[in-house]
This record gives sequence, structure tokens and C-alpha cells, in this order.
Amino acid sequence: MKRLAVFVSGSGSNLQALIDAIVEGQLEAQIVVVVSNRRAAHGLVRAEQAGIPTLYFPLKPYREAGRSRTEYDADLAQKVAAYKPDLIVLAGWMHIFSPAFLDHFPRRVLNLHPALPEQFAGTQAIQRAYEVFQAGEINHTGVMVHWVIPEVDAGPVITTAEVPIYQTDSLADLERRIHATEHRLLVEAVRQVLS
Ligand code: GRF
Repeated sequence: MKRLAVFVSGSGSNLQALIDAIVEGQLEAQIVVVVSNRRAAHGLVRAEQAGIPTLYFPLKPYREAGRSRTEYDADLAQKVAAYKPDLIVLAGWMHIFSPAFLDHFPRRVLNLHPALPEQFAGTQAIQRAYEVFQAGEINHTGVMVHWVIPEVDAGPVITTAEVPIYQTDSLADLERRIHATEHRLLVEAVRQVLS
């Protein structure tokens, strides 16, 4: 059974999609740990409810002790390596990893982003796409899953899905459609990578 480590910073709905796919037999894998850098991340609650071990590992104590992000990344890599993950899934993980983390897991860290490659990298991607749509410049956006490199929301693409934006859409409508697409695409991408 392939071993997944899932990293979350927020609500964890994509983590939930992976948990559900595993329970329903659509994904043959085991989530061996859920990592969060935020204590309040609801993803931690979802993990606990599913009986999955959690690791809360915040950056703040490092900052306060005058220690670097590189040290944080290296220590986190070591802790996660102990779970022997075959694949690390960044699902709403709000921290940009340096090589101090990534070099421990070559070609084993993937990220989900709510936009198409080379568009709307960084935070608020859905809102920024909606604004560009309102300016009449685009009629679709999308979702991608890609291998992680130190540059934010960039790296070799694993899979993408286009998401249409309709004239009647509110931002909330678009967010709902994108999140539904993410939940499907992430499960597909993990399945594809593990097979
Ligand atoms: C997703 O839209 C993901 O693409 C982005 O952050 C959001 C996380 O949502 N990076 P959730 O925590 O999985 O519900």
C-alpha cells in the first residue's frame, strides 16, 4: 500500500476528498500523516476524525528563536521522512518550501493550485481570475496539480482541468465549481502518480 503524507493549512476539503476516495475504494493508498503549520486548520480535525496521525509543526517558534526557514524546512523534512511517505501531497499548504525540504523527497512532492499553469500563481488565485473575467479578458480558469519546485505554484505539470466561468457567476459560484474540480482532479492525479 502506497503511503501518503498530506500537508494542509486550512479547511482540508481536498484532504477530505482523498480520505473519502480511499474509504470508497477509489484510491489505493494510505494516509500515514497529516501535517499542518496552523493549529486552527480544520484539516487537522478531519484527520483526527479519520483516525490519521497528525503533526502540527509551526514556523513561529523558529522565527522567535532567530532560526531560519531553511532550518524549519530541514527539521520538518526529517520528521516527515520518519513516516516513509511514497508521496507528499500539498493540499492547501501555505508555506513555500526551499530545497532544504524538497531535496529530501525528489519528485515526490506535488501541489494542487486553483488556476491553470503560469496563471495566477500565489494566493487569491480564484478571486484574481474572477476579476480578470469581470474585465472581459477570460471566460475560463482552471485547476492544476504539479510537482513542486522552490518557485511558488510552478513546476512540471501532472494534470490540469479547465473550469468555465459563466456570465451569471458570482465569485462564490466560481469558487464552488473550482473546489469541486479540485477534489476530483487531486484524487485522479494521486492515482495517476502512484500507478
Ligand atoms: C485549495 O483551493 C487549494 O488549491 C489552495 O488552497 C485551497 C485549499 O482548500 N492551494 P482546502 O483546505 O483543501 O479546503
